[in-house]
Amino acid sequence: MSGFSHVPVLRDEALAWLAPCAGKTYLDGTFGGGGYARAILDAADCVLWAIDRDPAAVKRGAVLAAQYPGRLHVLHGRISEILVLLGEAGVTRLDGAVFDLGLSSYQIDDSARGFSFRKEQDGPLDMRMGQEGMTAAELVNTLPEAALADILYEFGEEKASRRIAQAIVARRQTQKFATTGDLAAVIRGVVRPDKSGIDPATRSFQALRIAVNEELADIAAALSQAAGLLAPGGRLVVVSFHSLEDRIVKRFFNQAAGKGPGVSRHDPAGMMAVSAPQNFRILTGSPVTPSAAEAAQNPRARSAKLRAMERVAA
Ligand SMILES: C[S@@+](CC[C@H](N)C(=O)[O-])C[C@H]1O[C@@H](n2cnc3c(N)ncnc32)[C@H](O)[C@@H]1O
Repeated sequence: MSGFSHVPVLRDEALAWLAPCAGKTYLDGTFGGGGYARAILDAADCVLWAIDRDPAAVKRGAVLAAQYPGRLHVLHGRISEILVLLGEAGVTRLDGAVFDLGLSSYQIDDSARGFSFRKEQDGPLDMRMGQEGMTAAELVNTLPEAALADILYEFGEEKASRRIAQAIVARRQTQKFATTGDLAAVIRGVVRPDKSGIDPATRSFQALRIAVNEELADIAAALSQAAGLLAPGGRLVVVSFHSLEDRIVKRFFNQAAGKGPGVSRHDPAGMMAVSAPQNFRILTGSPVTPSAAEAAQNPRARSAKLRAMERVAA
């Protein structure tokens, strides 16, 4: 086991909104460090199916599953494959599903995974949650300048996207990017720090991570598939960590509650749009956010937003 750990964000709130009951079947779509999973299994004598695309998380899952014989099943895969993964396991109906999106601290804090731009965490420019497919280094070393700029703008909301893409392309002509520190230094050379104190590399790293892992399309597909499996009374609980994630969740919830899809300026072509099943009611008028105490204790919790909805009888 690694020396890292993950402090679950909004765990008690997620559990309260999921409201697990004995004898029922639930999905934890983002197993991570198993913090939510353990809480669900301890709260009710239920069965929990869990998914994670990161083989390291699935390994942790096997350890936890042994502590809850016959009650926890951890599957390796992407949340965009819920129907296939659960279908193969014979699960066609869920009484609730929870997603705690993004990265776990196991991933962020391990410099070998290449997610961190912090100077003391220099590592290979990787960023693959699933440890397969193209790395962030391959993206920045090969993508055309315009495509790179689009990624930084769309997925990082980075205003200096064009200047950063230009600097990346200029630099890679003499030396390819290999490490996180290397890329962060080039970005910091282009974008000045502002008064917020946020590292100028933050938005670009978010953008590349989203692109490498195709995160937004996965979220849209996952919500649709999980909602489609929910029995009447079943709840869908989603914790998001940045505005792009939350926008997809909010839009999907509105659609499922019959409030109309709306058009997203971040997805004018409707690529993230998925058909939401109907017959849901939104439980959280405004999103639930961490208490002041949680935000003070766990900086990663500060941007978290929880939304919940429930399937009503057809
Ligand atoms: C924030 S962590 C979840 C932490 C967990 N709730 C806990 O309490 O320990 C998110 C996890 O979801 C996984 N994940 C993110 N996006 C995924 C996707 N599209 N498919 C499958 N797993 C994903 C990540 O690998 C990570 O382990």
